[in-house]
Amino acid sequence: MDKIRIRGGRRLEGVLAVSGAKNAILPAMAASLLTPEPVVLENTPAVRDVATMIRVLQRMGATDPVREDGRMVLRVPELRSPVAPYDLVKTMRASVLVLGPLLARCGEARVSLPGGCAIGARPVNLHLAALEKLGARLRVEHGYILAEGRDLRGAEITFDPKTVTGTENVMMAATRARGLTVVKNAAREPEIEDLAALLNAMGARIEGAGSDTIRIEGGAALHGAMHRVIPDRIEAGTFVMAAAITRGGVRVEHCRPAHLETVLEKLQEIGVKMKTGDDFVEVLPDGELRAADLVTSPYPAFPTDLQAQYMALVTQARGTSRITESIFENRLMHVGELRRMGADIGVEGRSALVRGGTRLAGAEVMATDLRASACLIVAGLVADGETTIDRAYHIDRGYERIEEKLRRVGADVERIR
Ligand code: EPZ
Repeated sequence: MDKIRIRGGRRLEGVLAVSGAKNAILPAMAASLLTPEPVVLENTPAVRDVATMIRVLQRMGATDPVREDGRMVLRVPELRSPVAPYDLVKTMRASVLVLGPLLARCGEARVSLPGGCAIGARPVNLHLAALEKLGARLRVEHGYILAEGRDLRGAEITFDPKTVTGTENVMMAATRARGLTVVKNAAREPEIEDLAALLNAMGARIEGAGSDTIRIEGGAALHGAMHRVIPDRIEAGTFVMAAAITRGGVRVEHCRPAHLETVLEKLQEIGVKMKTGDDFVEVLPDGELRAADLVTSPYPAFPTDLQAQYMALVTQARGTSRITESIFENRLMHVGELRRMGADIGVEGRSALVRGGTRLAGAEVMATDLRASACLIVAGLVADGETTIDRAYHIDRGYERIEEKLRRVGADVERIR
């Protein structure tokens, strides 16, 4: 069941509900290692990466999580084994998020290096250097990070470049580092703020999350807590673009437009008509699309995770858009697949030049990573004829039952063998 087939040309009409954020739930699950007490997470998305993180935590001693309608109860009563093995880490690099909590909980960790992935080398040097600043001793042997540190001490840490999971790892480790830790040039993504809200509910003392400077007062072990995970801004942005490319009228609900400001501004710039409220974006069924350049940058700028979907959208805009990917060195692989569908795109270094106004034709294409898969779905919705996307398991990592959600708003999409 790892192909998705789409017959394009249908306007999407109706309501799309956004699930909880993949990139918020993963650090929140890792945070459950910081206490032997239960951590209750609400609005959890049923995506493949959550299932993988459960397996990682169970290897360490987590009990079977109780899951019912979006609620998940995680508990690690005792830490049996501080090891995140290669066979799991290679399927989900975010497993590296257990490094900081393991050090905080039991003073040791053995975490497989994630290795590169389709979009880039994805090093973790910034994570390791920051944890060393807190007093941990780390070395890399036979593909594993071996970390040791039973008496972490607060420190001043400056990240360059900003790193989302690096900031998260340090925040979690610093909750048990004696004294004050100050993280400068911290990542500002909403998922960072969400993690800090959970950690503070668990008894941590964190200020400034969401800004460039985060202060963590280390102290006693954390206790259990309940927390509702924020909506997935990348899923929401993907749905808005899917509605826009079909000229449909769709209300994207249970989202936070405040987390999508620069994205919605850019979409307005290219002619997408929208109305927004506190928790919805309504795409209006009209508006000629016109080209506009894009540069991806760390939050609050336009996120790299919506770059591929934007590229699909502007293949239908009048004029030429230059799209520059400044976060990852190899995140333009969807260009080749879009070209096979008839898009007119040239690549120069980290930029793609999209000459818009071309009709797309359905084709057999292949997903290379999670967001490239989303791009191909957006393109398939408007392409003439049938698009079959192979390796659809990529999409399941970060989108909950995407074909069911899209069918509900009129898309002709199904999962096939
Ligand atoms: C997080 O990845 C997200 N994943 C990514 O989403 C997202 O694209 C990325 O942040 C955006 O920055 C999760 O939150 C689970 P980074 P992360 O560390 O933390 C370099 C998706 O599709 N860097 O912020 O791994 C790195 O190479 C995924 O949902 C180092 O050089 O990304 C990159 O160029 C894809 N050394 C830049 O920093 C390090 O130690 C930003 O990476 C760490 C990062």
